[in-house]
Amino acid sequence: MRLILLGAPGAGKGTQANFIKEKFGIPQISTGDMLRAAVKAGTELGLAAKKIMDEGGLVRDDIIIGLVKERIAEPDCANGFLFDGFPRTIPQAEAMREAGVDIDFVVEIDVPDELIVDRMSGRRVHVASGRTYHVKYNPPKRDGLDDLTGEPLIQRDDDKAETVKKRLHVYHEQTEVLVSFYSKLATTDGPAPAYIKVDGTQAVETVRDNVLKALGA
Ligand code: AP5
Ligand code: ZN
Repeated sequence: MRLILLGAPGAGKGTQANFIKEKFGIPQISTGDMLRAAVKAGTELGLAAKKIMDEGGLVRDDIIIGLVKERIAEPDCANGFLFDGFPRTIPQAEAMREAGVDIDFVVEIDVPDELIVDRMSGRRVHVASGRTYHVKYNPPKRDGLDDLTGEPLIQRDDDKAETVKKRLHVYHEQTEVLVSFYSKLATTDGPAPAYIKVDGTQAVETVRDNVLKALGA
């Protein structure tokens, strides 16, 4: 199964990705996680990406497309994968089509902007695994610590209110257009992904149940 999770920053893509990957046994490909790993490793890409991410902008299409093509060629992607935070622009989506990467499902998680800043300010992340919590809505079992490893959780550098507003702006300018791109594709003839839209304002478990049901799990 090949699947794309679409949605604004903070809509819950990473949170739901965790459930989907477990259920279907497919790897999660989060371009955001890949970039954060590059930042942590201090690579040339990481140094360039850090500035852009902290400003809430998007990393160049050619760089992202190259990263993703390399990743999906790895053996663990043979039976499918889950894109989280990719594609984010029309050129990224077109590059996948041109490369013959057929997508089975596009899942849009819909959350209005008003709820996003609150979600980001309470987000806590376990960097090594990408597991995500929220101090109010999805708290870890032990304060500040990852449920599975007991390691400390951190706040993301780009979760400051100002940066979140910029990221939302960039989402509306450059990424939201993918909603109509994939919805239209789903109604045309030929290989096209099924389009699923879920209400992301519900509780984490309700969103999970709705997504998994729509995916036939
Ligand atoms: P990326 O890491 O992809 O960030 P994003 O898309 O902005 O999305 P987030 O990770 O912030 O949110 P999410 O939807 O995963 O929400 P989460 O589940 O964590 O990208 C970061 C940066 O990298 C970009 O700004 C860009 O610079 C660069 N980049 C990445 N990909 C790129 C690309 N393809 N092209 C170019 N540049 C790229 O949930 C958020 C919070 O809400 C958590 O605390 C969670 O616990 C909580 N929560 C989740 N669901 C619910 C719920 N139902 N109810 C209440 N709380 C909830
Ligand atoms: Zn995420």
